[in-house]
Amino acid sequence: MFLIKLKGIEKMNDKQRLDYLLLSLEGQLSSESDPLANISNASALIYAIIDRLNWAGFYFMRGEDLILGPFQGLPACNRIKINTGVCGAAASTRKTQLVANVHDFSGHIACDSASNSELVVPIVKDDKVYGVLDLDSPEIGRFTELEAKYFERFVEKLSQYIDWDRI
Ligand code: SME
Repeated sequence: MFLIKLKGIEKMNDKQRLDYLLLSLEGQLSSESDPLANISNASALIYAIIDRLNWAGFYFMRGEDLILGPFQGLPACNRIKINTGVCGAAASTRKTQLVANVHDFSGHIACDSASNSELVVPIVKDDKVYGVLDLDSPEIGRFTELEAKYFERFVEKLSQYIDWDRI
């Protein structure tokens, strides 16, 4: 994808990358109306712009389960029970989960044994939980409060454009 080859991206600091990510997402969402294309490229944008990740993608509510959606990284668990794992915790509490060490998180689901820290943002619109955005890193303590705020903005931006009932 063109962004991977973007000159200068490796010189950006964390905040510049996060701003660039939001700008790129706006570009994607304002130029395409299909929800599947938009969330597919949303996961690709994260993986292309944010470093030190081994997985970035979506899970969507199907009944009481979360089912795998568009993602970047190794093949992952297809289905997660709403009351299990970090993703389940984000969906059931409707709160962002910033987990510095997943091995200390009771019930963590190890889809990829390389994952050591995780950031999961719930997708909530009009008081309904539609799913989660899940980021995994091989580094312990990889994710910051600043990133948590930016990825909450990322999900809000998606919600402005995407009719989640069509997913
Ligand atoms: N680790 C997650 C499962 C999803 S994978 O990381 C892609 C969890 O505990 O919910």
